[in-house]
Amino acid sequence: MAKEVIFGKPFETEAIVGKVERADSLENWQVTQRQDKLVFRCALNPNDIVYGLGEQVKGINKRGGRYVSYNTDNPHQTDESLSLYGSHNVLIIDGDKCFGAFFDTPSKVLFEIDVDNSGEIVVTCEPNVKVVELQGESAYAIAREFLSLIGTSYIPPLWAFGFGQSRWGYKTQKDFDSVVDGYRNAGIPLDWVCMDIDYMDRYIDFTVNTKRFPDLAAYVGSLKAGGIRLVPIIDAGVKVEPHNDTYETGVANGYFCTNHEGKPFKAGVWPGMTHFPDFFQPAAREWFGDEYRKLTDMGIEGFWNDMNEPAIFYSEYTILNGLTPPPASEGVKEPNAYKDYRNFYHNVNGERVLHDKVHNLYGALMTRAASERLNKILPVRFLLFSRASYVGAHRYGGIWTGDNSSDWDHLVRNVKMMPSLNMAGFLYSGADTGGFGGNCSRELMLRWLAFSAFTPLMRNHSAILTKKQECYRYSGKEDFQSVVSLRYRLLPYIYSEFVKAALSSDMYIKPLGFEYDDAYSRRTEDQLLVGESIMIAPVLEKDAKGRKVWLPEDMTEVRYDGSGFLCEQVSKGMREVKVPLGEVVFYIRRGKCVPVTKSAQCTAETDLRDVVLLGDGKEYRQYADDGFTKDVTAENIVTVKK
Ligand code: GLC
Repeated sequence: MAKEVIFGKPFETEAIVGKVERADSLENWQVTQRQDKLVFRCALNPNDIVYGLGEQVKGINKRGGRYVSYNTDNPHQTDESLSLYGSHNVLIIDGDKCFGAFFDTPSKVLFEIDVDNSGEIVVTCEPNVKVVELQGESAYAIAREFLSLIGTSYIPPLWAFGFGQSRWGYKTQKDFDSVVDGYRNAGIPLDWVCMDIDYMDRYIDFTVNTKRFPDLAAYVGSLKAGGIRLVPIIDAGVKVEPHNDTYETGVANGYFCTNHEGKPFKAGVWPGMTHFPDFFQPAAREWFGDEYRKLTDMGIEGFWNDMNEPAIFYSEYTILNGLTPPPASEGVKEPNAYKDYRNFYHNVNGERVLHDKVHNLYGALMTRAASERLNKILPVRFLLFSRASYVGAHRYGGIWTGDNSSDWDHLVRNVKMMPSLNMAGFLYSGADTGGFGGNCSRELMLRWLAFSAFTPLMRNHSAILTKKQECYRYSGKEDFQSVVSLRYRLLPYIYSEFVKAALSSDMYIKPLGFEYDDAYSRRTEDQLLVGESIMIAPVLEKDAKGRKVWLPEDMTEVRYDGSGFLCEQVSKGMREVKVPLGEVVFYIRRGKCVPVTKSAQCTAETDLRDVVLLGDGKEYRQYADDGFTKDVTAENIVTVKK
């Protein structure tokens, strides 16, 4: 059983909800105090693999890197980035001995993992921390133990597993019509379209620009009839403006974070000056969560929560200090935001707590606020995903990995990050397919879609002023029909594997090393296991005609070209595979099956039960339901036979 050791007075993050034994000292870590910090060290053997850290850069194996858990709006991700949008402080060491640890604190944590071949892990954090030591026979067993301790994953509706289109810059109803028509006319499936900040009245949360959307409720209804849902963005900052209802209620009830003087803290984000809701107060969570009703009343069933690290472009203090706020288009200036995290406070049960001390929980609590309330408001399951997160937020919603770029490196990073996100509980996750910043080439889009077809969140999103990257804008639409329709044909499998993983505290995407212990599988970072039956080996290089694939056992190679599935038995070992653009090749593990259904233009037309089994197995245990019910239980799993 997992054991926890308490140092100082840690902040209760509610990340762990399972049973853990209390212990006096740690088994695998030496602890020392350096000034006002605690330092945890453990020695590594040369062959140990270090898994974990969820949303972080570099490889699946975290050796050779420095990582900082401090949620950051970082639109310039490189392998040298220290912090991204989420903090997932879990490590799993896989070697002669396997063990894991979760460093549970919402303040900054530095992880130095075999930096310059030091042969050790050094974790440095504030003196108030709960360390949970994880035990198990293998890295996979430890990951599963951790997942069982942090609670069951949020489960989105079926339509959220359909393909989503998004772009910062869609403004009017006409813009949305042309996106939907673009997809439908091109015969490329689509289920949902995101509404970025321009649907609002001057970026004010929970408002709708009525010039652009004269009757949003009617519009939502008409799109839904055609199998399309709209998914609006909600930002953390509430515009400071008299008569803005959210602002007035928040001020009147003391629901906003406060500055050094005890007044609502002011920070500049997209709408100009805003106040940040104090999600650490249960009443503020209820109030903010209830604001979503303004949009659910119009038929909306999904949201994305953004800018909730919280992102800060400038603040009342930056201005006081004579620093000029950068133009909004330049986005966040990290140093200013970091300074400002020491300029505001939360009210935690009547105690004033400096934001910096609990920073990494802010976005997670925004997700919780929305999720708990949406669960009460809506009779059906909803889509919700967030940019910032902490361990435990996976019980309330999914995440996307923030502002990436249209770059092959970013596709590679997306692939490597997925199993780590799963270890941290975030099963419903994915990256901006095609890349947020920069211009996406046809080739990169097709290769990226071919990977995202297997990630639970599959959304094409891009930034304003970049080259438009909706699939129908590229030449040769057949290739796009093919790759996106594969996703729909695989939905019975993807949906079933996702729900089964959630219900049994399992991962949906795993590294090969979690199932195969040969030396090659343990080191492979560009192939992944998806659910219990599939192995993928995505093409990740520009101009590549295919790739080398490592087969840890005999498998069924499945080639999908848009018309059908071509299956071939292939033998264990290294294999050179040709993958033309517009085709997807994946593998089915020995003795396993994958249920596939017919092509459809949206999930409303997808029949999860009308399946054919691929692979050399004899049967498949399939989870299926109506796609909306909140009653998600193992009773909905049936055995489908060949
Ligand atoms: C942030 C988000 C991005 C969004 C933009 C405008 O950069 O990460 O997804 O499009 O803000 O709202």
